This record gives sequence, structure tokens and C-alpha cells, in this order.
Amino acid sequence: MGNVIKKVVIGLIVGGALFGITRALEFPTVFQWMFFAYAILGTAVFVLLDAPSLKPVGGVKALGALVVFYIVLCVVYIAGASLWPQYDPEDEKGKIEKILKPKRAATEQGKAEELLARAKALDEQAKALAARIKALGGDQAPGAQAAGGAGTPPSTTGAAGGDLLKIGEDQWQLQECYNCHKLRGEGGKKRGPELDNIGNLLTVDDIKQKILDPKSWMAEGFEKEYEKGKMPDKYKDLMEEQDVVALASWLVTFKNTSVNTPKPIKKK
Ligand code: HEC
Repeated sequence: MGNVIKKVVIGLIVGGALFGITRALEFPTVFQWMFFAYAILGTAVFVLLDAPSLKPVGGVKALGALVVFYIVLCVVYIAGASLWPQYDPEDEKGKIEKILKPKRAATEQGKAEELLARAKALDEQAKALAARIKALGGDQAPGAQAAGGAGTPPSTTGAAGGDLLKIGEDQWQLQECYNCHKLRGEGGKKRGPELDNIGNLLTVDDIKQKILDPKSWMAEGFEKEYEKGKMPDKYKDLMEEQDVVALASWLVTFKNTSVNTPKPIKKK
């Protein structure tokens, strides 16, 4: 009996030490307990060594005992295994698919919409160009279509104003401002501020300045993006003066106070 107690005490000490070491090494908790359990199992084996040997059995009795032993083992293993969380690969694949499917559908739909918008914008740009060429070439139709032409001050009223705003909207699509800016709930991808209330914060000239020189103004709360120069500094090379005016004139009409367009801070 004394021997058994000695072995149990040693087993507990070893188990405790293993538990402490694995804990210090930041093993997962389940592993800490597993090491402890192994120590206890080892102890049990050592204790069994001291047990008095069984009387030998033979014949049918031995066979019966063996079968019962196997049944007990099987029950223990199956019951134990079914207690653990089950990972069926097909199940897991199904779960992942469920998460990915809407995302995939969303990006595909987004792409299709983007392409459609671009095709539409190009079509409108072609029409606008055709109209401009007609206006330039046709002296017999004086000035009717020359929206924002040299010397014509942009006005936001009347027929020319309507054209100007139309060109501005086309420019929004053509220059792909929507890639970074949400407007009317479309576009954005959260890279730049929503611009639905920009008309209450900036004038046409201010917006023009921002487009031609993105360093001229900084949206409050977008300090990091401003410093990194997220808004491209390329429109002064890509856009005609009157297109910039048209775009700014169109943007200034957005005065939706329910959208939190950040306050522009003058930098230059
Ligand atoms: C690649 C992304 C990107 C594109 C494309 C882009 N911008 Fe920006 N824009 C930003 C970011 C980021 C900010 C905020 C930081 C800053 O002010 O520079 C910003 C700020 C602005 C602001 C100031 C908003 C405020 O509340 O102060 C205006 C106006 C603006 N952009 C207009 C435009 C227009 C018009 C176009 C298209 C010609 C355009 N942006 C294209 C990223 C972009």
C-alpha cells in the first residue's frame, strides 16, 4: 500500500510539473491537460505492476473475457470520439461556400454594373463630342451647344446650364471618381469621402482647385489618405478646363445634408 501511495504522489508531481511547463510554454489548455493525463496514465500502469497476478483462465472463459474486453474498449473509444467536435470536410466546404457565395455574387454584379456604367458614359461622351463638333463646325447654328466653350462663362441656368451639368456628370463617370467617392449611394469602396453634401461645403472654384491639385484641400478625418496622396494628381493632365468646370458645377449641386461629407480644410 505504501508503495502505491509513493507512486501516486510521484505521478501527481510529474503530472503537475508537465502541466506547469506546458502552461509556461503557452500550449493550448487542452494540451496542458493531456500531458497531465498522460502522467496519470503512466502512474496507473506503474501501480498496476504491483497488483497481484491474476489466476490464469483458459478455454471458453478466456475467450468470453477477451470478447467482453474488446466490446468495452470499442464502446469507450466510440463514445469518447463522438464527444469531440466532428469535422466533416464536406461540411466545412459547405460552410465556406456559404460565406463566399454572396461575396462572389456581389463582386460579379459590381463588375457588371461598373462595365455597364462605363459603356453608358462612353456612349454619352461620344454624343457630347459629336454635339460639340457640330456646334464648332456649324456656324449656321450659332452658339447653341457650345457649353463652357472658351470665353463663355459657365452658367448653371438655361439650356447651356443643362448641358454643362450633363457634361459634369459624364466626367464623373469618365474620370472614374466613383471608384473612391460614394455619390447618391453608388460607388466608393470606402477609399474616399462621400460627396453628397459637397455643395454646402465648397464652391465651384474650390472643387475645381481640388480636382486640379488634390493637395489644395484636405477632407477632415482623411489625414492619412491626404498625406499618402490617395486622390490622384492626374486630372490636370487628363481633363480639359471646361470639363473640370462642368464636373465642379455638377458636384456643387449636391447639397444633401443627411450625408456626412467631411469638412474640407484649405491647405493651399
Ligand atoms: C483613388 C481614389 C480617388 C479618386 C479616383 C478620386 N478621389 Fe477625390 N478624394 C480621395 C480621397 C482619399 C479624399 C480625401 C483626402 C483628401 O482630401 O485628399 C478625396 C477628397 C476629395 C474631395 C474633398 C472632399 C471633402 O469633403 O473635403 C473632393 C471634392 C474630391 N475628392 C473630388 C474628386 C473628384 C471630382 C474626382 C474625380 C475627378 C475624385 N475626387 C477622384 C480619393 C479619390
